[in-house]
Amino acid sequence: MDNTSVTSTTSVTGTSGAAAGEGLLAGKVAFVSGAGRGIGAAAARLFAQEGARVLLAARTEAQLAAVTEEVGAAGGTAEYVVCDLADSASVRAAVDRAVDVFGRLDVAFNNGATIQRPGPMDRMEEADFDQIYDVNLKGVWLAMVAEISAIRATAGTGAVVNNSSVGSLMGNPELPAYGAMKRAVNSLTESAAVTYGPEGIRVNAIAPGNTPTDMISAWEQDSPGLRERLTAHTPLRRAADPREIAQAAAWLLSDRASYVTGTVLRVDGGARA
Ligand SMILES: NC(=O)c1ccc[n+]([C@@H]2O[C@H](COP(=O)([O-])OP(=O)(O)OC[C@H]3O[C@@H](n4cnc5c(N)ncnc54)[C@H](OP(=O)(O)O)[C@@H]3O)[C@@H](O)[C@H]2O)c1
Repeated sequence: MDNTSVTSTTSVTGTSGAAAGEGLLAGKVAFVSGAGRGIGAAAARLFAQEGARVLLAARTEAQLAAVTEEVGAAGGTAEYVVCDLADSASVRAAVDRAVDVFGRLDVAFNNGATIQRPGPMDRMEEADFDQIYDVNLKGVWLAMVAEISAIRATAGTGAVVNNSSVGSLMGNPELPAYGAMKRAVNSLTESAAVTYGPEGIRVNAIAPGNTPTDMISAWEQDSPGLRERLTAHTPLRRAADPREIAQAAAWLLSDRASYVTGTVLRVDGGARA
């Protein structure tokens, strides 16, 4: 695949009440990375339902097209762009696409990430470590820089939420590089909050716990019984629905969270309490 190529469909526009002016994110333009499936797809659906016009980004075009179509069918407004977070030109072009299509950028959910092959750090290939760094940390930095620039040039003020992980808050014997990049995302989040707060751009992170998606399935393949172990360590004794994670991101991106910046909000069923 040409990582720098950017593809989009015509936008799917609906006429729901939310799009017309009601809803938590009414009137806002939102960029969502990793929006083809899992938590990002749930976020794209929810943000649109809450009145945002949404640009979905990820690498797999068929998944993006399906979620975009779904949003339109439900009365929301969405478009997608193919984007590889490991490619700087691709990330910049994807964020710029939000401004090209919708005329502005107000909020962004940097959700896209990949999981490492589970195992102790001494068995990890250097190339795998580099890949996790490229996508899960550098990709978030590249996206934030492009988003801050686009928000500043259009909406003027806005908000960014980075998707970290409850794994950023502890040792990760099975996912050491993943945990390290997520902890670094928390640091970038706090630094960005302090840097851009004076101009009215809020930056927060969420730290989800166990949410059954392809990412958890991939981890479980190498770690049988994972889901049961995670549930046993979660006081609410169940996994999250991806929409429950998206709800926290939506609130942090909304004006209801107008005095919240620089925080890493656990959305983990109490797993780290
Ligand atoms: N599921 C959990 O229990 C859990 C817990 C804590 C934190 N999280 C975090 O939640 C976020 C979403 O994860 P998920 O569970 O929804 O996983 P998922 O279902 O595997 O979705 C990951 C999304 O990220 C995209 N992505 C991966 N690599 C990419 C790249 N190089 N460039 C652009 N997009 C890329 C994927 O699309 P393509 O492959 O098509 O690019 C996909 O849309 C991640 O940041 C993850 O670390 C998840």
